[in-house]
Amino acid sequence: MKPERLDKVLAAQSTWSRREVRELVDRGWVTVNGAPARRADQKIRWDEDRVAVAGKELTLRPRLYLMMNKPAGVVSATRDGGTTVIDLVPPELRRGGLFPAGRLDKDTTGLLLITDDGELAHRILSPKRHVPKTYLARLDRPVTGEMAERFAAGLPLAGEEVCLPARLVRVEEDLARVTLHQGMYHQIKRMFLACGARVVELRRVSMGALRLDESLAPGQCRELAPGELELLQSREDPWE
Ligand code: URA
Repeated sequence: MKPERLDKVLAAQSTWSRREVRELVDRGWVTVNGAPARRADQKIRWDEDRVAVAGKELTLRPRLYLMMNKPAGVVSATRDGGTTVIDLVPPELRRGGLFPAGRLDKDTTGLLLITDDGELAHRILSPKRHVPKTYLARLDRPVTGEMAERFAAGLPLAGEEVCLPARLVRVEEDLARVTLHQGMYHQIKRMFLACGARVVELRRVSMGALRLDESLAPGQCRELAPGELELLQSREDPWE
């Protein structure tokens, strides 16, 4: 396991903020393998090192990254009146703190990342660093060149929002592949609506350079394989 900063590990796996962790370290309350931590940014291997705060040893555990093939009819939330994507995580992979990193509409299917790593979620979703997300959208009418041009130019939606330029590729007569660099509410459906088309089926097929594992049945999930976390954070287009 790669060494990581003590403050990052502690803040991610406790209720302390990074600043609070730094204070605890400065006050000498944190020990690593029995010796007082020297600095908050010292590197630890949390699968090997024993970390204690005020004499109490913490159980550090790896963060979990799951790829789910989200089925339709399930909400991308941790809690809801109905079934959530977290309810679909099998018991052997379930743990406290899991949440879907980014939302898909209830009727949207496909790639969803479920994790307990808030920092990673922020990295891939924050407007500044938003990794590209690609969807297959089935329409109620043919995909046109004009749609592609309007998506590429930055489409104004009803209201005053203007979308960032998005890439639209025609895959079949009524099937488009669309790559977004932002995540506005119902964005793909609203973009097509602004072009006079209705989305009848929507499926997310990649995030960053990570493509949905098509061997996952709807509702199934699996841990990310080595290297896939890097693909997730890459801005390269996996469809080129
Ligand atoms: N755009 C939508 O309209 N819905 C989604 O679920 C994702 C992107």
